Amino acid sequence: MCGIIGYIGEKKALPIILKSLKKMEYRGYDSAGVALVENDKLIIKKKSGKLDILKKELKDFKNNSTIGIGHIRWATHGEPSDLNAHPHNDCNSELTIVHNGIIENSNELKKSLIKKGHIFKTETDSEVLAHLIEEYYKNNKLEEAVKIALEKVNGAYGIVVFSLKEEKLVAARLGSPVVLGIKNKEYFVASDVAALLPFTKEVLFLEEGEIAILDRQGYKIIKLTGGESIRETQTVDWSLDEVEKDGYDHFMLKEIMEEADTVRASMRGRVILEEGDIRFGGLIDVMDKLKEIDRIIIVACGTAHYAGRIAEYVIESLVNLPVEVQYASEFRYREEPLDKKSLVLAISQSGETADTLAAIRKAKENNVLTFGIVNVVGSTIARETDAGIYNHIGPEISVASTKAFVSQLVIIYLLAILLGRQRKLSRQQAIEILDELNKLPEKIETITAQASKIDEIAKKYYEANNFIYIGRKLNYPIALEGALKLKEISYIHAEGYPAGELKHGPLALIEEGYPVVAIIPQDKVYKKTINNLEEVKARLGKVIAITNEEDDLIKKVTDDVIIIPKTLEILNPILTVIPIQLLAYFIAKRRGCPIDQPRNLAKSVTVE
Ligand code: AGP
Ligand code: GLU
Repeated sequence: MCGIIGYIGEKKALPIILKSLKKMEYRGYDSAGVALVENDKLIIKKKSGKLDILKKELKDFKNNSTIGIGHIRWATHGEPSDLNAHPHNDCNSELTIVHNGIIENSNELKKSLIKKGHIFKTETDSEVLAHLIEEYYKNNKLEEAVKIALEKVNGAYGIVVFSLKEEKLVAARLGSPVVLGIKNKEYFVASDVAALLPFTKEVLFLEEGEIAILDRQGYKIIKLTGGESIRETQTVDWSLDEVEKDGYDHFMLKEIMEEADTVRASMRGRVILEEGDIRFGGLIDVMDKLKEIDRIIIVACGTAHYAGRIAEYVIESLVNLPVEVQYASEFRYREEPLDKKSLVLAISQSGETADTLAAIRKAKENNVLTFGIVNVVGSTIARETDAGIYNHIGPEISVASTKAFVSQLVIIYLLAILLGRQRKLSRQQAIEILDELNKLPEKIETITAQASKIDEIAKKYYEANNFIYIGRKLNYPIALEGALKLKEISYIHAEGYPAGELKHGPLALIEEGYPVVAIIPQDKVYKKTINNLEEVKARLGKVIAITNEEDDLIKKVTDDVIIIPKTLEILNPILTVIPIQLLAYFIAKRRGCPIDQPRNLAKSVTVE
């Protein structure tokens, strides 16, 4: 998820590596480390926390190595600590690796490597790579050992490896970006062009399944499947700011545009499709306890709370268990009886939200089983809950949560299937949902491709002072989320309502030109919501609808329509949320708001 760098050339590697890591800091990370050579020995220095802590540690460290690797880590397996920080080495401290991504079969590989006598020092999935390469690095070249090792690995990786035995770096890519940088007789490998820009603009992006070998004479690229790749370098002409945001104007837009990958990453390694079953590593020890629970209380704040509101519908329908969703800030002060058979589930991107943490602590005081759906590995909520599931989607940088919400929904569907399969959900029903979940990334891409059309709609309404969002059933929480997104980043007053509630009060607000965003896919309540829109049109309000097709019914009651692909009714929120995120984004942009850091808000609210 985070940043790797490798250097081989004529200059001292350490200052170059530290400078490159600094340029990748914007990606968000929890620890940093470097590996270099000194007197024919491998030297690894690594520290949890910010790069400055590592730099302080290295203040009096003199090193002349002209080959080295570095890493900033965003933990996925094993909490952020000095030990778990990268680089990792093999048993004999002869080879070392940095890894970006997730090795899904690390547990199985680790077990078999331990049987063969390998000694592991860390809790990371990445260390497996060092030992696996060591295992195959007998009478052959490093790149051959790397190739054989990677054939055994499932997951996503960008890696750089080097060994004391050979003067070269070997890098590989599958699922996590890797880019080479070339400057005369200096060669670089990094996760991102930002890390290379201080040194060179001559780059070469590795493609999926490629392995690069860099030595002091040059570089060569081979394929994991065999054979050489002949590739040309290119000259980039990007500013650092453009590189960090991947060419987008804001992190928020970049994160929305990543949402197809977010769905893939949240499911990766967790679905056993043919059995209609789900496997979450973090739940293995509590599977029996899960069979016993008879009520779920979800605690969360803000956007995560709205994901919980959707979970309520999903779990009730697939698992047939009563679910209650509470604001964590309310739950902590309520005096409700808590039963031992309840499960308290916290949803939190940061894992540090003070109210959600307090809610979990209260549940624990009452001896209730606690769970977390958390993105930041090793965060307080992740550590304090009895069991949990990580989103595995990399850092979310924009204050307005977007891709984390999509991932929270995916995890909720998977969790509901897991709980459902322990109860009444049939294998066939589960397969049907999982099959369709697999199709969502492509469907999401058809929505993000409509960004400029959504911007045109934003152009018509960005000067409005108020908005109402409406939806029914699973799309009512999307209406709430739409209103929250707009408020947060554009400072426009907005309210979300269940469409049927409009006539019980809010309709009084509607007058000529008042914008109403309707989340109205063609589901069982489609026609009911059409009636609500008639009520808006009769009062000369403006209607922007998010739906599946422009049929006669919708044409009559709308001013603007955003079309999203059809999916199973229960999965609709993953698709309907994307246009509302984009709409909020473009409205805020047209109003000239500081989108990634809205006034008065913090990414993680660690105070009560
Ligand atoms: C979302 O856009 C917000 N910035 C905010 O509501 C956020 O979702 C809330 O503070 C919860 O944060 P968490 O997921 O890190 O616990
Ligand atoms: N999965 C690895 C770990 O947790 C790598 C994380 C990263 O990409 O920074 O150490």
